[in-house]
Amino acid sequence: MKKLLLTLTAVVLIAGVAAYHIAANATTQTKTGGLMNKKVLVAYFSWSGNTKSIAEKIQTQTGADIFEITPVTPYPSDYNETAYGIAKEQKEKGIHPPINNTDISSYDVIFVGTPAWWYTMAPPVMTFLAENNFEGKTVVPFVTHGGGGGYTIDKDMAELAKGAKVLAPLVVYGKGGANVDKEIAGWIKKLF
Ligand SMILES: Cc1cc2nc3c(=O)[nH]c(=O)nc-3n(C[C@H](O)[C@H](O)[C@H](O)COP(=O)(O)O)c2cc1C
Repeated sequence: MKKLLLTLTAVVLIAGVAAYHIAANATTQTKTGGLMNKKVLVAYFSWSGNTKSIAEKIQTQTGADIFEITPVTPYPSDYNETAYGIAKEQKEKGIHPPINNTDISSYDVIFVGTPAWWYTMAPPVMTFLAENNFEGKTVVPFVTHGGGGGYTIDKDMAELAKGAKVLAPLVVYGKGGANVDKEIAGWIKKLF
């Protein structure tokens, strides 16, 4: 009887450990996929928080480092001043504003996030792509927008990030809906 009880306890314990491992693997699937041996960075610009929210979710799901691209001269907090003032002017004149940059040389895969600004990426993201060396790196674009979609932002990024392989973008309206975590996980799984 004692032996039977011991055997049963052992079986329950082993089953428990196995179940735990299966569950742990399921939740960290993106980390154990094609990203496992890669050094990954999430770099993003965000003016009102939507792109930041998506960037942080991508970081959580991939275990990547994260970097916020900020212009040396911050945009005004007033929407009209930013949208119809400085951002419009930068767009029309093709200005790449100075940014507080980072060293990307050690990264293999760089998720690059931007809000849609005047039908393309925000100017500080243009600076980030143009001023760093992307030779041999993989760029993964993600875009948040106010109803216009992703435009040709992935192609625009490919033009600026010379030598990079640019993968299919994630395009999200605002902060994304209730399923945004699943959407992000599915997108990453498909790419890697
Ligand atoms: C300067 C500016 C330009 C914008 N241009 C567009 C646009 O062309 N198309 C669009 O769908 N939304 C546009 N929007 C809305 C933003 O893309 C949208 O709100 C985005 O999710 C904001 O991201 P953020 O919170 O990370 O800044 C614009 C917003 C601003 C401030």
